[in-house]
Amino acid sequence: MSDIQEATKQLLDVNLHVKQRSVPVTESDIRSESEHLHVTIGATVPTGFEQTASDEVREKLGSSCKISKDRGKIYFDIAVESLAQVHCLRSVDNLFVVVHEFKDYQFKNTKEEVLKDFEDLAGKLPWSVPLKVWKINTSFKKKKTKRKKINQNSSKRKIDNGQGDKLDERDVKKEFTNHTLGSHILDFYENPAIKEEISTLVGDLASCKDETDERAKEETESQVLKFRVTCSRAGEKHCFTSNEAARDFGGAVQEYFKWKADMTNFDVEVLLNIRDSEVIVGIALTEESLHRRNITHFGPTTLRSTLAYGMLRLCAPQPTDIIIDPMCGTGAIPIEGATEWSNCYHIAGDNNPLAVKRTANNISSLLTKNQIKEGKPSWGLPIDAVQWDICNLPLRTGSVDVITTDMPFGKRMGSKKRNWNLYPACLREMGRVCRPGTGRAVLLTQDKKCFSKALSGMGHVWRKVHTVWVNIGGLHAAVYLLKRTPQVFVHSSEEDEVLGNANNEDD
Ligand SMILES: C[S@@+](CC[C@H](N)C(=O)[O-])C[C@H]1O[C@@H](n2cnc3c(N)ncnc32)[C@H](O)[C@@H]1O
Repeated sequence: MSDIQEATKQLLDVNLHVKQRSVPVTESDIRSESEHLHVTIGATVPTGFEQTASDEVREKLGSSCKISKDRGKIYFDIAVESLAQVHCLRSVDNLFVVVHEFKDYQFKNTKEEVLKDFEDLAGKLPWSVPLKVWKINTSFKKKKTKRKKINQNSSKRKIDNGQGDKLDERDVKKEFTNHTLGSHILDFYENPAIKEEISTLVGDLASCKDETDERAKEETESQVLKFRVTCSRAGEKHCFTSNEAARDFGGAVQEYFKWKADMTNFDVEVLLNIRDSEVIVGIALTEESLHRRNITHFGPTTLRSTLAYGMLRLCAPQPTDIIIDPMCGTGAIPIEGATEWSNCYHIAGDNNPLAVKRTANNISSLLTKNQIKEGKPSWGLPIDAVQWDICNLPLRTGSVDVITTDMPFGKRMGSKKRNWNLYPACLREMGRVCRPGTGRAVLLTQDKKCFSKALSGMGHVWRKVHTVWVNIGGLHAAVYLLKRTPQVFVHSSEEDEVLGNANNEDD
């Protein structure tokens, strides 16, 4: 059974399960109820790759996307049956269901007035459908830490299909008032990676607490849902901080649903995203970023799988293509490639034996994971890992279709000084192995000056087609899409010979 089939089956199970807790209705009622649930999903994606993510959504879900002016976010509408497929997207990091979007929110003039408005907002929002989607989603979302189960007998009420008048929202309030979830008010995170660091750290500390205390506490709190509010804010003209907005809006959400605030062990994470005059309230559908799927053995500069996917997609891999990452580090790019483009053959190489070992371990862990998931021996992945030097690749001239690599930036890896020799040598050797006329390369670097200089000396072999600007851990980097020119590669010795002959002719 494929991932999607499995998840869809689970979704159906959840629907039936929801039915048991609601008024007795037939299975077809449940189906039709779900069939009529349509929601807007928001997703964070690697900055610069919004269009790639939008293309993937259109291709796999048939939905068109709105690319937010807030870089790194896309929005699309789905029927709830597609929720499982949304979790299988390769280009998205975090997912949330939109509760409400204010395109042009009118902020009042004073901080007190603005915060009072946020307080009032909690009781006015159309929570019903998003909360139902959140509930369905809990069955197939990847869990970061063990969570308590929702009290399955707590509600006798059926939530409506979300066209939502005031009465429906009151029903939802009752339904979710009696669940197990918790909130804590977190200030803000602009960068999802930073947020994850905070959550993980606090979670680890929490796990050191005395277990008996925890169990006793859990028993008394078992009926109450825990939540937290996370506010991100961008824009010059706000008279309040994200911390204040999260605190006051969070307080009102707590009051409205009678949930309990818990920063680390929350069930529901309510998001308040503010950018200039745009305000979006959402509920998180992922506990940890979906980019954490392939890698178990990390290195100093491991790339997000979502970014690796975006880079690979830029070269439009075709069946039977030979795709290499000549500076693979922990193998994030070729492993993502072998998973998503399994009809191609991928080679991961690095000159550092430790990196090659990490790549091999990552491949092996992924195979074991797949084997456990499928309950039978896995067919393996179309990938090999080798140790090599990019300046002297053990590959035939013109034998490679696609090169995708993340070059040493010269900060954490290598040095800017060394890049002045490395980059021209890389481009030359990559030009040798890449197939003239059809070959392409997608190269990521933050050392743009050095790269541009090296490329300018290789115009006969490489043509720059497109540049995507990305943010890698706060560094402004570039992803270059290059096309191999039709010019046949001339080896240096042959070049010397040609030059020698030319000189002789001059004599
Ligand atoms: C930015 S890291 C790649 C990180 C990788 N994308 C990952 O996800 O882990 C660059 C890699 O280039 C490798 N490298 C540097 N010089 C090299 C050379 N001459 N030949 C092959 N690999 C080299 C380094 O060992 C390092 O692993």
